[in-house]
Amino acid sequence: MKTEEPHAHPARLSRRELLLATASAAALGAAALARAADSPTPAAAAGAAAAAPSPKAPTGPFSLPALPYADNALDPVISSNTLGFHHGKHHQAYVDNLNKAVAGTPYAEMPLEAIIAATYGVPDRTAIYNNAAQHWNHSFYWRSLKAQGGGEPPAALKQRIEAVFGSVDACRKELLSAATTQFGSGWAWLVQEGDRLAVIKTGNADAPLRGGQRPLLTIDVWEHAYYLDYQNRRVDYVSGVLGKLIDWGFAAGNLGPA
Ligand SMILES: [Fe+2]
Repeated sequence: MKTEEPHAHPARLSRRELLLATASAAALGAAALARAADSPTPAAAAGAAAAAPSPKAPTGPFSLPALPYADNALDPVISSNTLGFHHGKHHQAYVDNLNKAVAGTPYAEMPLEAIIAATYGVPDRTAIYNNAAQHWNHSFYWRSLKAQGGGEPPAALKQRIEAVFGSVDACRKELLSAATTQFGSGWAWLVQEGDRLAVIKTGNADAPLRGGQRPLLTIDVWEHAYYLDYQNRRVDYVSGVLGKLIDWGFAAGNLGPA
């Protein structure tokens, strides 16, 4: 498998992943992920460069994207210890396992989103599906957060939120409720369905990439996302994320046509 330039642009997905992702017109959310990966702010890029550990050489078509910020940038809501394990161990493991699982199969030549779509619900493809979806979800999650996030969304997104939830605060409460009522591991999402926004939750590795849903932002509620900092207090982790880290600008950039 090609390993071109994953180290030359540490804040980005590999060129191959970007090309493959953007080639899949059917993949909702792929363009958003590619845009975010392709257009880090100068500060974010500088932070990522400063924070990037020695990247591990990819062992297959997929590689771990560098964080778009320094690994202590989200402290104290998410500590550098948590971020280091979460990104460097958990996300890396999904990438490594995906590369192993697709080796020698037609999936090795497919875009990530196409792999997720092709393996969803297929019993003997569960390992490929889970690792592919978790690679996608985590890449999206890192970009759903930023240092000094929170606050108010950009006007275009704020209007769409108010049209459905009544207020941004009500939307935050919906996200907090989804995140804290997800039984076991999973994800809370703000998504666009047609011309309306919605808050949903998914279990384990599932992502809202089907059924006409376009993900706008996500919060990881697997225990590995918060246990080192908060133990079992998921509500405190999610409250901190929503108040201080969530990147409404990223969500606004993912909006599709109404
Ligand atoms: Fe995670």
